Amino acid sequence: MSTSTTPRIVPLIDLRSASLAMPSATLKHGARSMDSILPTDLLGRPLRDLRISVTDRCNFRCNYCMPKEVFDKDYTYLPHASLLSFEEITRTARLFAGLGVRKIRLTGGEPLLRKNLEVLIEQLAQLRTVDGAPLDLTLTTNGSLLARKAKALKAAGLQRVTVSLDGLDDAVFRSMNDVDFPVADVLAAIDAALAAGLGVDASGNAGGLKVNMVVKRGTNEQEILPMARHFKGTGIVLRFIEYMDVGATNGWRMNEVLPSRDVVQLIHADMPLVQLASSAPGETAERWGFANASGRHDPAAGEIGVISSVTQAFCHDCNRARLSTEGKLYLCLFASQGYDLRALLRGGASDADIESSIGDIWAGRNDRYSELRSAMAPDAGAGTRRVEMSYIGG
Ligand code: GTP
Ligand code: 5AD
Ligand code: SF4
Ligand code: SF4
Repeated sequence: MSTSTTPRIVPLIDLRSASLAMPSATLKHGARSMDSILPTDLLGRPLRDLRISVTDRCNFRCNYCMPKEVFDKDYTYLPHASLLSFEEITRTARLFAGLGVRKIRLTGGEPLLRKNLEVLIEQLAQLRTVDGAPLDLTLTTNGSLLARKAKALKAAGLQRVTVSLDGLDDAVFRSMNDVDFPVADVLAAIDAALAAGLGVDASGNAGGLKVNMVVKRGTNEQEILPMARHFKGTGIVLRFIEYMDVGATNGWRMNEVLPSRDVVQLIHADMPLVQLASSAPGETAERWGFANASGRHDPAAGEIGVISSVTQAFCHDCNRARLSTEGKLYLCLFASQGYDLRALLRGGASDADIESSIGDIWAGRNDRYSELRSAMAPDAGAGTRRVEMSYIGG
């Protein structure tokens, strides 16, 4: 991989001409177990989850993600011509699906700021996994534009949605989004998404709608219990995320991280919890169910999740790749450089060549930043030059 320190300009890697051990186009048909012929990385991890950032812009200025002092009126966002088009995104996603991807998450920035996003969703909804199933198609949003778009998104083929919400107290929420956006509008958007059918899967099971709350010690920890009480029994899965040292602008410090075990303890003391088995390999969240009087999980009360990338890194089975707004492939949320797939897409490369390059890139992957950081001094990762989450996608 290149050693350039500029995150946005990275030449396509030397692996490009290397041939894949697994020529997927020929092996795809008639193979008994696809898993045995799909690429794995150097740590044996398959490629299952593709997160696509469709814009580097956002109308919020959450301090932990796009602080106002950096993302001000002079900040230069990517010009439109450098964004992947919907056709380029769909083509790339199709090739990723051929390599084992089963889930696609659209992110940003704020993905709903991208014009006509439902057109992209319609295209992605046509794609199939190597087993011939539809992809698990989802999106992360701050909720500001969701109420008006929920129906169209569902009609286009979006299956579920995750809404970011860092508290119920209006003053706390307005100050965290830093654009004075009212909490009531996000709650209304969640209702609209449920009404549009984004909270249930094709078989009518609840749990499709998730709410992600980033917890910052000293900022919104007092919101943990009200949030847990509010979403208990609604079919919505609330997940608490440890504040991470992602990007290079948020001034992250370890003392602002509230460990997930403290979150679980706090809720458990008020509403008893039991740990649940993970629902998929490589899952980010540890699941905890609300317990009934006999100490067993009460499905009607639902569950919460905790995402503990700082205190309990989950790199060992990380199956996530990230495609940036301008078409660079990142192998880790904490990477400082990506692989320029757009150059291939616009340079006339064939599907087979691009698929082969992606497979080779994945085969050479050994990223496990969060695990390595756990072994460092507490604030060692602070301020390191890395891509921003708004660019690479959460
Ligand atoms: P589901 O399929 O709904 O379970 O979603 P998910 O948990 O895979 O994705 P989501 O975007 O909801 O992830 C929630 C949060 O976890 C993100 O906003 C990030 O803060 C964090 N996160 C997601 N993926 C990773 C990852 O690969 N590494 C680290 N360190 N954090 C991640
Ligand atoms: N720490 C943890 N999560 C973050 N996100 C953005 N920045 C951070 C950070 N520093 C996640 C949140 C938000 C999503 C868009 O990205 O989950 O909901
Ligand atoms: Fe925007 Fe989400 Fe980042 Fe907040 S966390 S600034 S809503 S992209
Ligand atoms: Fe995956 Fe990197 Fe996150 Fe570890 S830190 S879970 S390797 S994205």
